[in-house]
Amino acid sequence: MQKTALVTGAARGIGLATTKLMLDRGWHVAMLDRDSDELEIASAGLHGATPFSCDVSIQSRVEETIPAILDKFGRLDAVVNNAGVAHFGPMENTDFQAWRTVMETNLDGVFLVSQATVPALKQTRGSIVNIASISGLRASTLRVAYGTSKAAVIHLTKQQAAELGEFGVRANCVCPGPVRTKLAMAVHSQDIIDAYHDAIPLNRYGSEQEIAEVIAFLCSEQASYVTGQIIASDGGFESTGIGLPSLRN
Ligand SMILES: NC(=O)c1ccc[n+]([C@@H]2O[C@H](COP(=O)([O-])OP(=O)(O)OC[C@H]3O[C@@H](n4cnc5c(N)ncnc54)[C@H](O)[C@@H]3O)[C@@H](O)[C@H]2O)c1
Repeated sequence: MQKTALVTGAARGIGLATTKLMLDRGWHVAMLDRDSDELEIASAGLHGATPFSCDVSIQSRVEETIPAILDKFGRLDAVVNNAGVAHFGPMENTDFQAWRTVMETNLDGVFLVSQATVPALKQTRGSIVNIASISGLRASTLRVAYGTSKAAVIHLTKQQAAELGEFGVRANCVCPGPVRTKLAMAVHSQDIIDAYHDAIPLNRYGSEQEIAEVIAFLCSEQASYVTGQIIASDGGFESTGIGLPSLRN
């Protein structure tokens, strides 16, 4: 039987690139997103993919949708918790609703989808890949909610790995550096883009495809002894400390 992956936030960006790569590698993909219109357009013509409209931050919707996915495919071998939202602002201007909006999707959504899919993953000895961010590894200005939500996802991944290992279920986390998606472009000005290029050892943004490759590897049999790992796909940004431009060659 063909393996099935659930990808959340699959209507565009990193989630859509991951969907296409997994399909190319012979997986079935349940594409989940709350943007039904974009999801319909994105999934049209993708053989082996089925769209599921669902908001991962709403417990009742998640609890209805996961059984529908299992009805359709009969199994679940990988869950990619990719749906995310970004909010950039100083601490004093981040009102509680903005904080909650970020936490609801970025953290609660990962918890809810993982919890609802664990029984199916135990049956296949499958795996979870959570998408955090470089912002969860390196603190920065303007990311009090976003960075904290992603740091929490990193620890949640370790909790999942610790608890699910004895059932043969792996859990890993990918931390992308900047990628030119709708999410990033909504909060990255030209100034921010230039500063990133300057601070990242590879001197550029990553592509959706480059992030998808790491996700697909972690879902695959090739990663069968890898669990509890936090892998930055970030052009070297996380590894740098004193990266002053004036200290370069
Ligand atoms: N693009 C970057 O620079 C970057 C960097 C680091 C981490 N990330 C992370 O990568 C992931 C994907 O981001 P992207 O850049 O592809 O963003 P994107 O905005 O292009 O795509 C995100 C998708 O998630 C969906 N989504 C958002 N909230 C949802 C919810 N509650 N329920 C269901 N679907 C929901 C959106 O509708 C959208 O289709 C996010 O978790 C993001 O935080 C992105």
